[in-house]
Amino acid sequence: MSIYRSMFQLAETKDGSSTLINTQLQQSYHSMHGAIQESMHVFIKEGLLYYLEKFPNQNIEIFEMGYGTGLNAMLTYVETSKHQVYVVYKAAELFPIQSELAKKLNYIDLLGLTESQFTSFHTFDTKSFSYVSANFKIELLKTPFEIYQPTENSIDLIYFDAFSPSAQPELWTIEAMDKCYKMLRSPGVWVTYSAKGAVRRALREVGFQVQKIPGPPGKREMLRALKI
Ligand SMILES: C[S@@+](CC[C@H](N)C(=O)[O-])C[C@H]1O[C@@H](n2cnc3c(N)ncnc32)[C@H](O)[C@@H]1O
Repeated sequence: MSIYRSMFQLAETKDGSSTLINTQLQQSYHSMHGAIQESMHVFIKEGLLYYLEKFPNQNIEIFEMGYGTGLNAMLTYVETSKHQVYVVYKAAELFPIQSELAKKLNYIDLLGLTESQFTSFHTFDTKSFSYVSANFKIELLKTPFEIYQPTENSIDLIYFDAFSPSAQPELWTIEAMDKCYKMLRSPGVWVTYSAKGAVRRALREVGFQVQKIPGPPGKREMLRALKI
């Protein structure tokens, strides 16, 4: 078995949707209570739909920390297709998954995607772009978030989907939150599944207005932060 294959294990979560487990960190990519259920709640309902309702906008730039399976990008595509919104989706990912592994995830049927739409979430050109549709462009940055230097005031919405603060504390520091704050436009929205006190304090310290809101099933609370 190659090192690559031994790093990822396929698993099924309680809502029937697939996830991956990073065997080195012993961390799952999503909640085992339901991968799609969690992503829909944290990133789509409390992030994307909250943003679009509060700050109606036909063109949005989204940044995701931790692209992983591409599930958040796929759900964002499905949702924004209903709203006629043009999306530029940038994501940082240190360990992009290969398309053979991606094909084993059961998102095509569960999300109602065509095979070619699904493939476009895991196939990038030489410049790391993928054009899912005329309205949805992805740029995958194969760069560690810690050294990524984003353009300031360029992003409307951030999905912060790193492994947990206890598994990867280096991604939840004041410096990391400051990078997020600076990369966001005003108004801008940041969301994550974690509600940890240290993360909340770091967000406040760099200037965010922080909201602790109900989380998905199995998780009492999550965080949303606003740059106003
Ligand atoms: C919780 S999983 C993300 C799940 C993903 N959003 C999804 O829906 O599948 C965390 C992701 O962050 C990536 N990652 C870990 N360390 C990173 C780093 N320093 N910079 C960028 N990505 C990193 C992991 O490889 C993993 O794909």
